[in-house]
Amino acid sequence: DRLPALLAAMPKAELHMHIEGSLEPEMAFALAARHGIALPYADSAALRRAYAFGDLQSFLDLYYQGAAVLRTEQDFYELARAYLARAATENVVHAEIFFDPQTHTARGVPMATVIRGLARAGDEARRERGISSALILCFLRHLSEREAFETLEQALPFRDAFIGVGLDSSERGHPPEKFARVFARCRELDLHIVAHAGEEGPPAYIWAALDVLKAERIDHGVQAVHDAALMQRLARERVPLTVCPLSNQKLQVFPDLARHSLPQLLAGGLCATVNSDDPAYFGGYVNANFQALFAATGLDAQAAWQLAANSFEASFVDASAKQRWL
Ligand code: ADE
Ligand code: ZN
Repeated sequence: DRLPALLAAMPKAELHMHIEGSLEPEMAFALAARHGIALPYADSAALRRAYAFGDLQSFLDLYYQGAAVLRTEQDFYELARAYLARAATENVVHAEIFFDPQTHTARGVPMATVIRGLARAGDEARRERGISSALILCFLRHLSEREAFETLEQALPFRDAFIGVGLDSSERGHPPEKFARVFARCRELDLHIVAHAGEEGPPAYIWAALDVLKAERIDHGVQAVHDAALMQRLARERVPLTVCPLSNQKLQVFPDLARHSLPQLLAGGLCATVNSDDPAYFGGYVNANFQALFAATGLDAQAAWQLAANSFEASFVDASAKQRWL
């Protein structure tokens, strides 16, 4: 079977990964040692064994705890450098990378430290590995809109270092409407708009992400299959969905990867893509996501080609770069 090799070899863009979610247990322990922080696990193997999640919140609790070892610009640089090196080996030619500044600024880490470290890794990887990348700042939806506005204010001195904003963290109980005004302000600033919606939350959150936030892409969106009118709209408007199969499996969004909705999304004519979300926590980088999904669902080489083409169509690169890749 040559499908796994095709999936690995095909050029692709990765559009949904949280850089804090690429913190491998080994790096967590190295950074903890660097800063004299004690982690509540014996070693990296014990930490990895703790990665057994019942739902999104049980993951987020560990993810925010892990991020606490990130302190200096060098830490953020090394984190992003490691992800980009790995992505390049998986034939990712372009990556749009989420970061969660509020989980760092809440610990007293300056916005400048976070953005400068991440941006330096992106510049270096472009020069040394030929992989292009861009940053997307995510607001934490379990916090207030006021705190999102404060975060945007802190980031504006670095406006040129990120291309857009997103919305992530605990979905249920925190609908897009909560952030209507801050996203309106972001649109005035010509930032690209994306939002996590329909991961665990209902199709209504996808409608609101589109109509209230004016999201250009939906992150996850896998619950759209429960709303026929929404499916038709997403297909008609070619609104991309950045789907993360291993994440959905590990967070028990689907009982089994074989029951994942991605084949239905493709069959419905939607611009679905495959991504890793938080690769250090969910058991694999982007190619492992492709391979597990294809093995479980029986998707074929035609679907592989479609998903790679969708990833470039859905990216925020300019039209000439898209032409080159498509
Ligand atoms: N932050 C990191 N990964 C996330 C996910 N899958 N959903 C919501 N917030 C996140
Ligand atoms: Zn995500």
